[in-house]
Amino acid sequence: MDYTEDDGTYSIQTFDLTKRFTKKKHRGIFGFLRKERKQRKQQSESSRVTVALDHINIKIRSGELFGLLGPNGAGKTTLVKCLSTILIPDKGTAVVNGFDIRKQTSMVRASLGLVIGGERTLYWKLTARDNLMYFASLYKMPRNQAKERVEELLEKMQLSDRADERLEDYSTGMRQKIAIARSLLHDPSILLLDEPTLGLDPTFSKQIRGQIRELSDKHGKTILLTTHYMDEADQLCDRVAFINDGKVVAVDDPDSLKATVKETELVEITCFNPPLDVERHLKSLCPGVDIITLVHGDETKGNPSKIKIIGGNAEEHISTAIDALRKKNVRISSLNVGVPTLEDVFIKLTGAKLAEGEGRG
Ligand SMILES: Nc1ncnc2c1ncn2[C@@H]1O[C@H](COP(=O)(O)OP(=O)(O)OP(=O)(O)O)[C@@H](O)[C@H]1O
Ligand SMILES: [Mg+2]
Repeated sequence: MDYTEDDGTYSIQTFDLTKRFTKKKHRGIFGFLRKERKQRKQQSESSRVTVALDHINIKIRSGELFGLLGPNGAGKTTLVKCLSTILIPDKGTAVVNGFDIRKQTSMVRASLGLVIGGERTLYWKLTARDNLMYFASLYKMPRNQAKERVEELLEKMQLSDRADERLEDYSTGMRQKIAIARSLLHDPSILLLDEPTLGLDPTFSKQIRGQIRELSDKHGKTILLTTHYMDEADQLCDRVAFINDGKVVAVDDPDSLKATVKETELVEITCFNPPLDVERHLKSLCPGVDIITLVHGDETKGNPSKIKIIGGNAEEHISTAIDALRKKNVRISSLNVGVPTLEDVFIKLTGAKLAEGEGRG
């Protein structure tokens, strides 16, 4: 394989990067005890292979804020783990900051700041400041320089006044900020951020997104951000790759991706109380459309569900769909025609949903 095209234009390039996992079936403790012997015999048959990454080829430009958008189990974390040398790929490779992830692991690690699994990788019994000082010492930073850097990062994360509290007393969002600060200690040129806003409330999500944008705009970092929040990818990223079942299905800037869904190809009905068989029912009434899908909202919290009619002659079926829903006592709260989101593009391309009714803070 020839990697010589790396002339500094790209900070990350993957070449047919492939990772498989062999999963063994677990039957729970009682099933296990009963069937232990039989199971041992059948172990080879009951194991199955998951292709978490299937010949991934992406190129991330230096200074680019690149989003990897995909549903649960798509392969996002596996890609981040391969790029950061935590996992060894089965096939193919990647070049990070000019270094091969298979052969130059320490150089790759030195080039990267990694936020993965968020706060779980910090020491909860230590204060925020001590956590950062400890990790700075692992980078063999001189103490004075480390102190200065830690104070700078605490300030950047707006946590200077809480720096002497133990992380066990921090909120999830505060710990995530410390995880990001830790990834920046050695001032790496590349950041890999795996779902940095997962589970955070809207205020913290917004602050962290602001920090990420600033790291890209002001500090020129190359950032690979994984997310399954479409709005996050849309707002933040210069370019987005859609990943599904270990395969990259599209790469482009958000506007160009959205432009692939024509105005007549999208109808979105926001509603409460849709029946469970609504997708099948509408599909039988709306011939010629590609996909009808229901994205459940958390209706108990007042967030409506969404029925999306995508592809073909979607627009022609508005009145049929609304009549049918009314007959089923569905409360319709709004109708959106021809304004696609990244999720609509993703659904059109893959038939899969990104997430069910999750907050998009
Ligand atoms: N250590 C492992 N052993 C076995 N299978 C694994 C392992 N890690 C990941 N997988 C499988 O590989 C696939 C991709 O997982 P991965 O964690 O990369 O997805 P993801 O896109 O990060 O999902 P999520 O949004 O839920 O974090 C999944 O089917 C997962 O079950
Ligand atoms: Mg993941």
